[in-house]
Amino acid sequence: MEMSSFRLISSFGRVPSLGSTISKKFISTGPAIRPFLLGPLSRNASRLTTKSKLFLPFMKQQGLRHTMTAAPPPNVSMPLSRNMERLIGGWLAGCAGMCFGAVVLGGVTRLTESGLSMVHWKLFGERPPTSMDEWQLEFERYKQFPEFKIKNKDITLDEFRWIWYMEYGHRTWGRAIGAVFYIPAAIFWMKGHFSPLMKKRTVFLGGLLAFQGLLGWYMVKSGLESRFHGESDVPRVSQYRLAAHLGSAFVLYSYLLWCSLDYLLPVQQLQRSKELLRFKRLAHMCKGLVFITAISGAFVAGLDAGLVYNSFPKMGDKWIPDDVLEYKPTWTNFTENPTTVQFDHRILGVTTFSTIMACWAISRRLNIPRRARLACNVMAIAALAQVGLGISTLLTYVPTPLAASHQSGSLILLSIAFWLTHELKRIPK
Ligand code: HEM
Repeated sequence: MEMSSFRLISSFGRVPSLGSTISKKFISTGPAIRPFLLGPLSRNASRLTTKSKLFLPFMKQQGLRHTMTAAPPPNVSMPLSRNMERLIGGWLAGCAGMCFGAVVLGGVTRLTESGLSMVHWKLFGERPPTSMDEWQLEFERYKQFPEFKIKNKDITLDEFRWIWYMEYGHRTWGRAIGAVFYIPAAIFWMKGHFSPLMKKRTVFLGGLLAFQGLLGWYMVKSGLESRFHGESDVPRVSQYRLAAHLGSAFVLYSYLLWCSLDYLLPVQQLQRSKELLRFKRLAHMCKGLVFITAISGAFVAGLDAGLVYNSFPKMGDKWIPDDVLEYKPTWTNFTENPTTVQFDHRILGVTTFSTIMACWAISRRLNIPRRARLACNVMAIAALAQVGLGISTLLTYVPTPLAASHQSGSLILLSIAFWLTHELKRIPK
């Protein structure tokens, strides 16, 4: 009989990925022997190997086949109740949702040109000025920096206050994510609710979250340096640091989402087939392409490259504009020449869209689980909307609401691609 892996379900709760393989016949043996075999697993997975040996003669007698790994893999610990799984999954999803909010807020802060209004950074204890004198002092500090000297000479105190609050809101939201992540993480950890795998994930996520804050300040600093000269030189943050900050936010968000899906949407084991494996690879490719296109979008945003060649599908009256390789050395065109950066983003956007559509078309003739099919359909719709938003943003000279929706759209598309690959996780390699 063909062997196939199953997720073991006991009366005590689910045992995630025990790494054991049990034949279908064994699973369908009926309630009489299941508690014997699954009880010990659910109560203490580490005693699995010893205890299960006791049942081998009995299983042989029943004609049952059974293979088990010598020791449980490192991601196994005390099983959680379904409610606890939901709680941890909900907490991770909440943190992911807050990261999503931070990305949107960050985008609006950049688009309203508010990001360089706070010219200092403190990890804790940053608070808004409380009196007119304090506001005046803060305004004087801002006046020492290039954004005021070159671009905002006419700004009033009230206008300054508004852009200051935008940046303050983004920073404070970031700190709130820290509180919502670190405090429950410490409680779950101390109460023994984390498996060894989840502990590693928590350390990684916690580190990335702290890194994200530091990277944010490193990015802002690049817009405060005195490297801007003359009226035509718009003070802005480095496009490299902007792309790094956005990219790392996307990684943080995606990993939080992935971990939460592990708890909230347990996936079912799928039969291995060549077509399914190929489809799974294609789904991963879509996910990778969305990520790369989004990073290239950050370069477009960082260089204000959405304001050159506001036509589609051609750039001006050419498919490939003349100044596409104007900068020397040549490689700098890909990260510093607004024309090339926009050209690359278009190509990547259209390639991502086409790959997603191919993935959707292939999914229509495959026998995949209902949730995976739904994810695939939703991904195709989101890709269509995302490209539509991108083109509209370009044709209308980057108005804030459209550009902000295009940015959020990329994160929604990425989330759906993660959801799809999560649904396909259980296709054996
Ligand atoms: C799957 C496809 C696409 C994805 C995932 C994507 C993603 C992104 C991202 C993440 C940004 C940065 C936003 C920011 O930081 O504010 C961006 C910017 C931009 N994208 Fe796309 N994009 C896609 C397709 C397109 C297409 C097809 C076009 C138009 C031809 C386009 C035009 C733009 C423009 C003009 C900007 C600059 C907006 C700004 O300055 O804020 N995008 N894109």
